[in-house]
Amino acid sequence: MSLGRRQGVELRVRYTVCVVFAMQSGLQGAELTDAQFRRVSTLTKKLCGINLHEGKKQLVRARLAKRLRALGMASFEEYMDYLRRDDSGDELTAMLDALSTNLTRFFREPSHFVYMVNTIVPRLLASGSRRLHVWSAGCSSGEEPYSIAIHLAEAIPDLQAWDVKILATDLSTTVLERAREGIYDKKRLQDVPGMLRSKHFTCIEARPERRYQVKESLRQLVHFARLNLMDTWPMGGPFEIIFCRNVMIYFDKPTQAQLVERFTDLLAPAGTLFIGHSESLTGVRHQLRYVEPTVYEKPAPLSEEKAA
Ligand SMILES: C[S@@+](CC[C@H](N)C(=O)[O-])C[C@H]1O[C@@H](n2cnc3c(N)ncnc32)[C@H](O)[C@@H]1O
Repeated sequence: MSLGRRQGVELRVRYTVCVVFAMQSGLQGAELTDAQFRRVSTLTKKLCGINLHEGKKQLVRARLAKRLRALGMASFEEYMDYLRRDDSGDELTAMLDALSTNLTRFFREPSHFVYMVNTIVPRLLASGSRRLHVWSAGCSSGEEPYSIAIHLAEAIPDLQAWDVKILATDLSTTVLERAREGIYDKKRLQDVPGMLRSKHFTCIEARPERRYQVKESLRQLVHFARLNLMDTWPMGGPFEIIFCRNVMIYFDKPTQAQLVERFTDLLAPAGTLFIGHSESLTGVRHQLRYVEPTVYEKPAPLSEEKAA
């Protein structure tokens, strides 16, 4: 083959490879314009409080590209048009799902679980109460509420005699489906000690990778529901504990303040709010008592004798 023909063949092969790669990796050339980004970030802020500033544009582009691929669309213009015409609200839900960060782990930030079993449970016992209603707000794929359930099951020998309920809510329907199933592969259980894994999980598949399901005894303690924290909340409370960890970090300070005020209303007297370790209520007006970093308590009303 002459040099010229060989170069021609090579160029054609390279072109085909590039086109196939662009189709597979998705929308390499599709641009998210500043106006489209602003529309997405305004919608996201209004609907679920998540604050997507200018620095998040590439992240938003990459995450929305998944929606475009799923819908077989070639441009963000087409997608924005589809979003505008979608009266069902399904695509808005799917878009919020795609944009939210769901990173979580079993036994994440373990000091909160230690505080729960070493301080809160003994305090309830001392007061004669056997009621422990917990809310995991922004529970993602279930690792947080199941970690709460495992710690309570380990710390309270007569758990059946207690009124223990764990409400676990999230905005994302996708993660909630996974949470309800309670199925995790071995890697996701790496922070759960072997003894607790054997006690609270059943191995449901050995190959190609081991997969485990949370046992029914734990699953029945947890009730999963979709709830957007920005909407009205149907539950009455009160909750002895609210976990809202690594969620408020995506909200601006006024939104955080409103949320903390609503959590405070739903907490039982002396109830505890746990927030994520990279979060803080500094700069947020609230009525809670600071206990230690990331742990806040609703002040109990003064008893009648003390108040007199
Ligand atoms: C990073 S995960 C944290 C999961 C878990 N709390 C933890 O600390 O491991 C944040 C979760 O908050 C949820 N989320 C974000 N905005 C929300 C909103 N407005 N209402 C309810 N859940 C929201 C996301 O869907 C996501 O699953």
